[in-house]
Amino acid sequence: MRKKIVAGNWKMNKTLEEGQSLTSEVKHMAEDELPGDVQLILCPPFIHLSALHGMLKGSPIGLGAQNCSEQESGAYTGETSVAMLQSVGVKYVILGHSERREQFKESNELLAKKLDVALKQGLVPIFCCGEPLEIREREAQDAYVQKQIEESLFHLSKEDVSKIIVAYEPIWAIGTGKTASAEQAQEMHAVIRKQIASKYGQDVADAISILYGGSVKPDNAREIFAGEDVDGGLIGGASLKSRDFIDIAKSFS
Ligand code: PGA
Repeated sequence: MRKKIVAGNWKMNKTLEEGQSLTSEVKHMAEDELPGDVQLILCPPFIHLSALHGMLKGSPIGLGAQNCSEQESGAYTGETSVAMLQSVGVKYVILGHSERREQFKESNELLAKKLDVALKQGLVPIFCCGEPLEIREREAQDAYVQKQIEESLFHLSKEDVSKIIVAYEPIWAIGTGKTASAEQAQEMHAVIRKQIASKYGQDVADAISILYGGSVKPDNAREIFAGEDVDGGLIGGASLKSRDFIDIAKSFS
C-alpha cells in the first residue's frame, strides 16, 4: 500500500502570525476530521519553519521546506542548508518546483545535486516535474517529463530512489484554475511509474507515492485522486485556506 499524501505549498505567502493561525486550524481540523491514513505535510516559507515546528510537536503533520541549497555549508549568502532545515524539525523538502526551475533557473543537473544532499542527510525530497503548455500542445509531454526524471533521479541507488515522493505538476495547470483532467493526470502518473519500474523494478515503482499538483481544489480533488496511480496532491492556492486544504485531504475517504 502506497502512502496517501496531501502536501501544502504555501509559496511566498503568509506572515508569521497568519501562518500560525493557519497551522493551528489545520491541526485541529485534521485531528477532528481526518482518517489516520492520509499524511499531511505543510511547506511554509523558511522563516516560519522553526515556529511551526514548535506548534506541530506531537502531531502527525509533517513539516517541509520549499527548497534547500545543494551545498552543505559555507560562504553561500542567502542560502539554507539541509542541516539547518533538519535542526528546526524539517522532514521533507520540495525540489524542482516549476517556479524554481523557471524563475531561478534550476536545471535538472542542479536538482540532481540537491537530491543528493537532501537524501544523504535524511530529508525526504518531494521531486516536482511537469511540462509547459507548448509541450502539452505538441503532445510531447511524456518525453519531456521522462527527461526531467532521468536527468535528476536516475543516478540514484534503488534504496535512495525509494525514499522520494514524486509530484507531477503540469505548468499550465499551476495557479491558473485550469486543472489537468483526471485522465491526463492518471496517464502521466502511469508513464512516470512505468519509467521508474523500467530502471529500478516494479516493486520500487509500486511503492513510490506520486502526487498531482496544479489547481487542485475541494471540488475536483476526489475525481483526480481516484486515478489508480495518483497517490495524493501538492496543493498551492487551496492550501492557504484551512477548510479547503482539509476538504482536499478528506477526498481520499
Ligand atoms: P496551485 O499550485 O495549487 O495553486 O495550482 C500548485 C503548486 O504549485 O504546487
